[in-house]
Amino acid sequence: MNAKALNLEDLRRSAKRRLPKIVFDFVEGGVEDEKCLARNSASFDRYTLVPRYLLDVSQRSQSIELFGRQFDAPFGVSPMGLAGLAHPGVDLLLAQVAKEANLPYLMSSVSNASIEDAVRIAGKNAWFQIYPTADEKINTDLVRRALALQIETLVVTVDVPVSSNRERNRRNGFSRPLTMTPGVMLNALMHPRWVMNFLRTGGIPMMQNWQPYAAPGASADVVADLFAALTPPPEMTWAKVEAIRAAWPGNLVLKGILSPTDAVRAVEIGIDGIIVSNHGGRQLDAAPAPLDVFPAIKAAVGDRAALILESGVRRGSDVVKAVALGAKLCLFGRPWVYGAASGGVAGARQVAHIMKREIDLVLGQIGCAGLGEVSSRVAQSVPATQHTILSMPPRETADRI
Ligand SMILES: Cc1cc2nc3c(=O)[nH]c(=O)nc-3n(C[C@H](O)[C@H](O)[C@H](O)COP(=O)(O)O)c2cc1C
Repeated sequence: MNAKALNLEDLRRSAKRRLPKIVFDFVEGGVEDEKCLARNSASFDRYTLVPRYLLDVSQRSQSIELFGRQFDAPFGVSPMGLAGLAHPGVDLLLAQVAKEANLPYLMSSVSNASIEDAVRIAGKNAWFQIYPTADEKINTDLVRRALALQIETLVVTVDVPVSSNRERNRRNGFSRPLTMTPGVMLNALMHPRWVMNFLRTGGIPMMQNWQPYAAPGASADVVADLFAALTPPPEMTWAKVEAIRAAWPGNLVLKGILSPTDAVRAVEIGIDGIIVSNHGGRQLDAAPAPLDVFPAIKAAVGDRAALILESGVRRGSDVVKAVALGAKLCLFGRPWVYGAASGGVAGARQVAHIMKREIDLVLGQIGCAGLGEVSSRVAQSVPATQHTILSMPPRETADRI
C-alpha cells in the first residue's frame, strides 16, 4: 500500500522511481513516436458525463454479468507477458487480487507463471490469452491445457501480425539477446532493491507456459527465443481463429479488433466477445484509440457479442464512459504492474480499490444507482472554443463546484 498514492498516475510515478529505466520503459513504452499512447488517453476527453441530480443514489452497485458470471466491478486485468521483470511473482499476485476483488484476470500465455498455477489461485476468475503460433502442436496443446483446467474463457490476441517497432526498447538494448550497455547497467545499479530481487529470483524470469515446449532444462532466454521464433506465425489469418473456434467449446474472445468489418466477421464465425483494443499503443502508432472506433463497432455488432474496451483506461470515469457507450467490461494493463512494483500485493490491491472507488463516486455524481442507467448520461464534448464562461466562481468555493 502506498499511502501517498491517490490515483493510478501516482502509482505510475512511484513505480517509475523504483524501476530501472530499461524495465520501466519496457512496460510503459508504446511504438515509434508514441502518438497512439497519447491518442488513447485523449480519447476519453472527447466524451463527458452529464449528471442528473435529485435522484436516489444512496445504494450503488457496479457489479456486472458477463458470460453467465457475476463480477463485482466492470474492469479486469489485461494479459501481460514478461511482467515478472518489473516485480517477481507479479502474475500470481494479480491473479490473487483479481480473485479477492472478483474481477476477471486474463493470464498471458507468455506470463512468468503457469496457467495451471493461475487457475489454482484465481479459479473461475482466470481467463487464458494465447497468441496463435507457427507450430500447430503448440496451438493445440495450449487449448488442451485450457480445456483440462475447465477455463471458461479463452482469449486470442490478433493484433500482432508482425512484430512492432518499440524504439524505447531498441534504444535501451532491450532486445534479443539482451545487451546491457554501460548506461543501462549504471541506471540499474541505482535501483539496488530491484537488482537484489532480480538476482534473488534467478535473473530473467521464465515464460512458464512455454517452458514445456522447449528442451528439458532450457534457460529462460532459450524459452523466450522459441516463443519469438514461432510467434507471430507467417500466416496469421482468420483460418487460425476458425481452427481455435472449432476446438474450443467455451467462450472465445478476440483481442485487438479495431474495425467494424473485422468485428462483424468475428461474430459471423461464432466469437462470443471482442476486446476493442490497440494493445495499449504497443503495435501500430497510427492505430485509432479504441474509444474512437467503439460506437461504430457497437453499431455493427449490437448484442451479438460482448464488447470489452481496453487501452488507456486510467480513471473510473473512463470505465463509466465506455460502459455508457455499450462496453460490458474494461481492461487495463500497466497500472496493475505499477501497483505491484510500487507496493507488492498491497499496491495491486490499491489499484482495484482506487478504480472501484472512482467508479462508485462517478455513479453517485451522475445520479445512477447502477451501470444499467449510465448510457443516458454520456455526451460527446464540444470543442473548448464553443464554451462561453459566463462568470468565475469565487476562489474559496471553487472546490465545491
Ligand atoms: C508489459 C506488457 C506486456 C504485455 N503482454 C501482452 C501479452 O502477452 N498478450 C497480450 O495480448 N497483450 C499484452 N500486452 C497488452 C495488454 O494486454 C493491453 O492490451 C494493454 O496493456 C492495454 O493498455 P493499458 O496498459 O494502457 O491499459 C502487454 C502490455 C504490457 C504493458
